[in-house]
Amino acid sequence: MSQNKLQHVFPKASRYDPEWVRRNSMGENVLLNLESLTKNLELKPGMRVLDLGCGKAISAIFMAKEFDVTVWAVDEAIPASDNYQRIQDAGCSDRVVPLEADARALPFAEEYFDAIVVVDSYTYFGTDDKYLPYIARFLKPGGRIAVVDVCFSNEIESLDQVPEFLQKDYQNYWYFIHTVNWWRKLWEKTGLVQVEVAEKLAEAELVRQQYVQDFEQQGEKDPFAKALAQDKEHFISFFRIIGRRTGKSAYLQDYKESSKK
Ligand SMILES: C[S@@+](CC[C@H](N)C(=O)[O-])C[C@H]1O[C@@H](n2cnc3c(N)ncnc32)[C@H](O)[C@@H]1O
Repeated sequence: MSQNKLQHVFPKASRYDPEWVRRNSMGENVLLNLESLTKNLELKPGMRVLDLGCGKAISAIFMAKEFDVTVWAVDEAIPASDNYQRIQDAGCSDRVVPLEADARALPFAEEYFDAIVVVDSYTYFGTDDKYLPYIARFLKPGGRIAVVDVCFSNEIESLDQVPEFLQKDYQNYWYFIHTVNWWRKLWEKTGLVQVEVAEKLAEAELVRQQYVQDFEQQGEKDPFAKALAQDKEHFISFFRIIGRRTGKSAYLQDYKESSKK
């Protein structure tokens, strides 16, 4: 892929060492995904941002450097000490806080964050109808939750609709992947956010090419890269969704809590 094109579409992400980004991305190139997402997300100096499922925390480093925000970089599987080392090496230890925690049991105060950003991780926990009601409590009223992830072009309602190239792996790796419209409806029906953006990434083709190229270079076997290479009609794509927190309070049908009343 031409460097000029990449620099034109991703001027911020292109300034970072490609080898460092490749080594520290756990799926697609995390900075391309994130720069695409932040084109529609206002991040102002001093804001508090939660980077959820941050992996190796380079998305948190990017947001601290590019937008001068303070970021809590949370992942349940990547040791906080390893992320702290990367954060220190990048000179960001005053603005990025590494934390090992489960996205379903977060140790934060309600209405603490101006923004919650989730890059390539939301499908691990966010398909549960009750996850948005859970996570929304940590957003200030008017704060944004912004997700970038993998999507399908058409919703798969039954197994006979699975494209041939995905049939072998679908029930293991793909059954939780949905369309942009599926995500929009999941969020809108709660009334907890106003969906401001829900669309395939305009830059999806570049993200796809970069991913396939990175894996070809490394010569590693990767089911996702294999599927992308076989996906001639681009059934698999990438999307972003951004919701603005409304004033509505969340009801989680928590039996223990309601039985105390
Ligand atoms: C595909 S990786 C993406 C990481 C990073 N955002 C990136 O793009 O390189 C998904 C990440 O989500 C994290 N994750 C999955 N389930 C989680 C949970 N319940 N709580 C916190 N993190 C979780 C994983 O540990 C992993 O680091």
